Amino acid sequence: MIPRNKSIELLHDYIKNDALIHHCKMVAIAMEAYANHLRKSESDIEEWWTAGLLHDLDWEQYPDEHPNKAVNEILPGLGYSMEVIEAIKAHAPERTGKHPEEELERYLFACDELSGFMHAVSLMRPTGFDGMKPKSVTKKLKTANFAANVSRDDIQRGTELINKPLNEHIQFLIDVFNTTEV
Ligand SMILES: [Fe+2]
Ligand SMILES: [Fe+2]
Repeated sequence: MIPRNKSIELLHDYIKNDALIHHCKMVAIAMEAYANHLRKSESDIEEWWTAGLLHDLDWEQYPDEHPNKAVNEILPGLGYSMEVIEAIKAHAPERTGKHPEEELERYLFACDELSGFMHAVSLMRPTGFDGMKPKSVTKKLKTANFAANVSRDDIQRGTELINKPLNEHIQFLIDVFNTTEV
């Protein structure tokens, strides 16, 4: 198990953009919260957090290869587990050919785009996540030119992958982001 501070150091070695670091930390927090919610073991919780934190590790430096550079060249040599590496592969199936199947893989896929989208929604509100309702998120999802780069299809697919109504998934993440410092 790689300690958290090592993974955070690695993240900062590869990513200088604050918004991207913030996104990685949000996904890590979401993954940790779901792992706790699902009553995973302590070591699984660390894996889930780590997969969230490092899923976009090579995005800034190797946008064309992302995430293949990280999963093939960076992470294996540093001792990250197959579970973490496979989950990072599976968050970008169209680039890696690996589809989310395992629970960790499905949750990472489900948390990635939606966390980014909800962050964009939070920036539009004076109180951020405080008092946010799922409806304000789903409304924005239907607004095509709001955070237009976020794939609505991926959000839909991720939600199906974890077998939850979208409103419930959104509410869970609102509670997480509202109570945990990123
Ligand atoms: Fe990514
Ligand atoms: Fe991401």
